[in-house]
Amino acid sequence: MRLRGVLLVLALLLAATGVVPVLLLGEDGGDVVAPAPPFNSSRVKAVSWQPRIFVYKGFLSDAECDHLVTLAKKKIQRSMVADNQSGKSVMSEVRTSSGMFLNKRQDPVVSRIEERIAAWTFLPQENAENMQILRYEHGQKYEPHFDYFHDKINQVRGGHRYATVLMYLSTVDKGGETVFPNAKGWESQPKDDTFSECAHQGLAVKPVKGDAVLFFSLHVDGVPDPLSLHGSCPVIQGEKWSAPKWIHVRSYENPPVVPKDTRGCADKSEHCAEWAAAGECGKNPVYMVGAEGAPGQCRKSCNVCDS
Ligand SMILES: *[C@@H]1O[C@H](CO)[C@@H](O)[C@H](O)[C@H]1NC(C)=O
Ligand SMILES: *[C@@H]1O[C@H](CO)[C@@H](O)[C@H](O)[C@H]1NC(C)=O
Repeated sequence: MRLRGVLLVLALLLAATGVVPVLLLGEDGGDVVAPAPPFNSSRVKAVSWQPRIFVYKGFLSDAECDHLVTLAKKKIQRSMVADNQSGKSVMSEVRTSSGMFLNKRQDPVVSRIEERIAAWTFLPQENAENMQILRYEHGQKYEPHFDYFHDKINQVRGGHRYATVLMYLSTVDKGGETVFPNAKGWESQPKDDTFSECAHQGLAVKPVKGDAVLFFSLHVDGVPDPLSLHGSCPVIQGEKWSAPKWIHVRSYENPPVVPKDTRGCADKSEHCAEWAAAGECGKNPVYMVGAEGAPGQCRKSCNVCDS
């Protein structure tokens, strides 16, 4: 009886060993998430040269898109819990607290997408920020803005944002287009009524699951290009998931040296203590602590004051 029990356990273990590795791989997603086909330049189209905008059809596989959305959903929920204390809207809080940034090389799927982005843009991975995942629900939009910075603080780490790769993780039924209102010659882009009204105000790219847009916010000589103004049109029907990847002119991975300084020892936001408790002093040092000559927003809560 006892022997049979042991044999049964052994048999179960053996059967399990065949399954366990698959399940483990499933956990981090490396092998179960089918990758997109290898880089294929005929899938890339230049849609504008002023500013420089390119669209890559099928940059991500459906499975990769779904995987990123799943990762993001976990983080969104975490952010919501933290945010309801402040009473602020989830999206804006998420931005400030960078609650929806994935880690770099977080898992094999994220790693291979980051490698693909580097291969497409010819820009090193270390120049890029962590991938961000955004969700736009009905009516949500992003007013036209520039990805390069006007202030000096944000340029301390990695310099200006040079290029943006915007990946669409879902197909939006209506609205949600990426629109470039300053693109030269946008008026000649043919548009039928499947484009939203907002999209008729500039060169528009429809969000299609798996497609990606690459555009440059600086001219090749490093001067900001105001034609790179862009926004996200309101979502009219469906839900938009997108993943921007911002790439700087220099390495973004080596954080700047932050000098200790007794001046300006104050919090500039009522949320500083909360953000500090969530580890933002370490994760977002330029914003929270500051850099040479540019004190951050939460010096007090980050304990960088001498007294
Ligand atoms: C590259 O993409 C084009 C357009 O989608 C397709 O016709 C072609 O077969 C692809 N080439 C390879 C090698 O996959
Ligand atoms: C915030 O969320 C938590 C967890 O969902 C809940 O227990 C708490 O009551 C919420 N607080 C407020 C002020 O809504």
